[in-house]
Amino acid sequence: MSQDSGGIQITGLSHHYYPQKGPPVLALRDVGLAIPPRTFVSLVGASGCGKTTLLDILSGLASAQSGSVTVGGAPPSAGRVDTARMFARDALLPWRSAADNIDFALSTRLADPKARAERIARLLREVGLEGFQNAYPRQLSQGMRQRVALARTFSLQSKFVFFDEPFGAIDALTKVALQDQLVALWEQSKCTVVLVTHDLAEAVAMSDRVIVMSPRPGTIIADYTIDLPRPRNVRALQSVSRFHEYVAELWSKLG
Ligand SMILES: Nc1ncnc2c1ncn2[C@@H]1O[C@H](COP(=O)(O)OP(=O)(O)OP(=O)(O)O)[C@@H](O)[C@H]1O
Ligand SMILES: [Mg+2]
Repeated sequence: MSQDSGGIQITGLSHHYYPQKGPPVLALRDVGLAIPPRTFVSLVGASGCGKTTLLDILSGLASAQSGSVTVGGAPPSAGRVDTARMFARDALLPWRSAADNIDFALSTRLADPKARAERIARLLREVGLEGFQNAYPRQLSQGMRQRVALARTFSLQSKFVFFDEPFGAIDALTKVALQDQLVALWEQSKCTVVLVTHDLAEAVAMSDRVIVMSPRPGTIIADYTIDLPRPRNVRALQSVSRFHEYVAELWSKLG
C-alpha cells in the first residue's frame, strides 16, 4: 500500500455534462491532485469552474468519466460510511429537534443510544449550542442551524469530509465564529477535508493548502501551502500580517 492510499488521489480527471439541448459542457479538464490523509484543503475558483462537480465526484454522486479518482485507496461511492458532505443550506429535518437531527444521521453508524446521546451532547456543546438540543430548526437562526449541521457532520466521525460553501449564507461575524468551530472540530478529529469556498480569507484561515482553479473548464492553476501555526484561531488570525499576505496572493492569482 502506498503512503498516500489513505488520502485522495485524482489523476487526469475530466468531466463533461450533456444537457438535453445544446453542446456538451466541459466542466473539468485534466485535474490532478494528491491530498495526503488528515489534510485540510480548500478549493477556490470562479463560479462555474467545476468545484461542486469535483466534490460530487469525490462523494460518489457523479462518476469519474475519465482519469482516476481514489478516496482512501478506493473509488468514491455514494454509500460509503467513511465520507460525509455538508452543504451551504443546513438541510435539517424541520420536524426533528437539533439533537434528533444529529441522531437521525448518527443512528445509521452507531447502534448504542447512550453513546449517541453522549456524543451529541458533547458536539452541541462544542458548537456553542448547549441548552438548544430540544429546539426545532424553526426556533434557531440560520447560523445556529448551520452549527447543528456542523455537529451532525462531525458526529459521523468520517475519514473524509466534503464541504460545499458551508457558510456561504452566513453574515461575516457569525461566519468567523463558525469557522473557528469547524477548525477546532477538525483539529480534534484530523479527518481529511476538502472545502469549497468563495471566501479567500476563509480558505487561508482554515486550510493547510489552498488549491486555485481556472475558470471553466476547471483545471488547477495554483496550489498554496498555508504555513500558519496550529491550533488556529480564526479571529486572532485577522491581525496576523502573514495571513493577509496569503489572502492578497490568492486575490492576485484569481484577479
Ligand atoms: N447538471 C448539469 N447539467 C449541465 N451542466 C451542468 C450541470 N451541473 C453543472 N453544470 C455546468 O458545469 C459547470 C461547473 O458547474 P459547478 O456547479 O461544478 O461549478 P461551481 O464551481 O461549483 O460553481 P459555483 O461556484 O457557482 O457553485 C458550469 O458551467 C455548469 O453550468
Ligand atoms: Mg458550486
